[in-house]
Amino acid sequence: MAPISVKSVLISESVDPRCRTVLEENGIRVTEKQNMTKDALMAEIRDYDGLVVRSATKVTADVINAADNLKIIGRAGTGVDNVDVVAATRKGIIVMNTPSGNTISAAELTCALLMSLSRQVDLFSEMCLKKKVTFWFFMGAELYGKVLGIVGLGRIGKEVASRMQSFGMRTIGYDPITPPEVSASWGVEQMQLEQLWPQCDYITVHTPLMPSTVGLLNDESFAKCKKGVKVVNCARGGIIDEDALLRALESGQCGGAGLDVFVEEPPKNRPLVDHPNVISCPHLGASTKEAQARCGEDIALQIVDMVKGKNLVGA
Ligand code: NAD
Ligand code: MLT
Repeated sequence: MAPISVKSVLISESVDPRCRTVLEENGIRVTEKQNMTKDALMAEIRDYDGLVVRSATKVTADVINAADNLKIIGRAGTGVDNVDVVAATRKGIIVMNTPSGNTISAAELTCALLMSLSRQVDLFSEMCLKKKVTFWFFMGAELYGKVLGIVGLGRIGKEVASRMQSFGMRTIGYDPITPPEVSASWGVEQMQLEQLWPQCDYITVHTPLMPSTVGLLNDESFAKCKKGVKVVNCARGGIIDEDALLRALESGQCGGAGLDVFVEEPPKNRPLVDHPNVISCPHLGASTKEAQARCGEDIALQIVDMVKGKNLVGA
């Protein structure tokens, strides 16, 4: 592709310092300004050729339309949900992400939640802190021999599968795009959701949030699951319907949930977050030193590649 001139980049969030270093080493002027209001961002963005964000900056159509020079929006992370890609495309602005930089970290947090759900590590840690350690009679359950359903067999789903197989779990899954023979080569037997729900002891979702995945786990699907099924969502809030999940937790149809993401963040659904069988995290899937270093460096290198006219990757 033809080289594109990018002389200045605004980084509007806490992005790993490698991002700034790589851009500056390649002659790009970098300004870092965090926690801007929408109006402040709209005023500031006029001057820049590039914008780098994580997930807190809402790059709406208003922001995009206020940007006279903008040529590139770089998302140091996977989802581009916080960027109005249609408005950007209409203005000829390229939107890029770093789709694999935080895959391992998100997969590891998913595994941590699966393990915590099986032994209620969070609850007992709290008990110990409060010196109420009389729950020695609590019985956890081994993951060994249990069935894990993985809905969404992309980058993260695949990494979760191999890690949980090492605990002796049987992994089954569903994905409309990943061919069954491909997932079979990494030990995941694919089937339709109707067949998958009743077999699972644990279910984890790893799809994007889009109309076909909103409420993928809902009252109807919970009813088809084994009583006491445990679920994890480290993907996007809303893939598991929050009201249906709360109903399933209250009836015992769902035995526990590990949630890193919510429909509203920070979560406002207190009955769900406060439920004793729910382990909640404040969207920490990508929050490791390693993932942030990769995403920060990757997005900077991709912008530099664009300036040099090399092939582009990402959204
Ligand atoms: P990916 O694109 O590699 O994989 C997503 C998979 O979902 C694809 O294989 C796709 O075919 C499949 N899919 C689409 N619609 C489906 C449906 N209806 N049913 C089943 N599968 C469906 O994405 P990824 O990198 O694995 O990321 C997965 C999710 O995790 C995304 O929502 C991403 O934004 C999120 N994520 C969250 C964190 C975090 O901090 N919690 C970090 C990274 C990514
Ligand atoms: C992502 O899409 O990359 C994750 O949700 C993590 C993040 O927002 O940084």
